[in-house]
Amino acid sequence: MTKVLFLIGSPRGKKSTSFSFGKYLEDKLQEKGLDTSTLIVRTQLASDEKIQQMMNEINDSNVIILTTPLYGDCQPYIIIKLMELIAAKNMNLEEKRFIPIINSGLPESAQITAAAIPIYHKFAEIVGLKWAGSLAVEAGEMFKGRWGKQMHDLGKEADIMRGILDNLADAVISETDLPDMAPRVLPGMFYWKILKKPITKINTRHWRKVAKEKGEDADARPYLD
Ligand SMILES: Cc1cc2nc3c(=O)[nH]c(=O)nc-3n(C[C@H](O)[C@H](O)[C@H](O)COP(=O)(O)O)c2cc1C
Repeated sequence: MTKVLFLIGSPRGKKSTSFSFGKYLEDKLQEKGLDTSTLIVRTQLASDEKIQQMMNEINDSNVIILTTPLYGDCQPYIIIKLMELIAAKNMNLEEKRFIPIINSGLPESAQITAAAIPIYHKFAEIVGLKWAGSLAVEAGEMFKGRWGKQMHDLGKEADIMRGILDNLADAVISETDLPDMAPRVLPGMFYWKILKKPITKINTRHWRKVAKEKGEDADARPYLD
């Protein structure tokens, strides 16, 4: 029987959009009789025993769905740590399908697809995981995971996202690979150039300023090289 492991990569743990996406998918898969389990990566990194338990779960699963936020156009530290641990273990992961689902704060999924997705591709290739598609979700805060909300608690504003997750669950059930997806999840007007352009410009200017103040390079992509 297909065993699906959800790795929740948000440092916010259960109060995160990453968790609510995972929970929604897990409920769908369980309804269809699939065997599932969920681990919070932050909690699992707390001791050698828990790390070993996480590695065992990875070993025992056919599909690994990693749900994480985007941090600095890249992976949160705990996910870098997780990827390093998996790479160091030299496990046989060849038949395991891997689906990363990344959500960002800003309404620009291009930020996710520019560096984070290629880094996950590179990781999968290095450790031998089978790429089965990815999902880049912009404006993740809209789903109120940090307030403990689950996808089924939300109203119409989450209809598009629930539909996307339903399709993803169907693909996992039918063992179909998906493309790398960066769907529109916001109401249409947010994609009007007249709104999108100034929002992007203001955001970009702000984050470049913050990076400069901290002595950082806003364009640095150390894990992509
Ligand atoms: C340290 C840090 C860095 C972040 N970097 C980005 C970023 O580069 N781009 C972006 O759109 N959002 C960024 N965010 C926002 C998160 O990706 C966003 O709030 C996301 O919805 C959180 O998901 P979660 O609830 O699953 O943790 C950052 C948040 C934090 C705390």
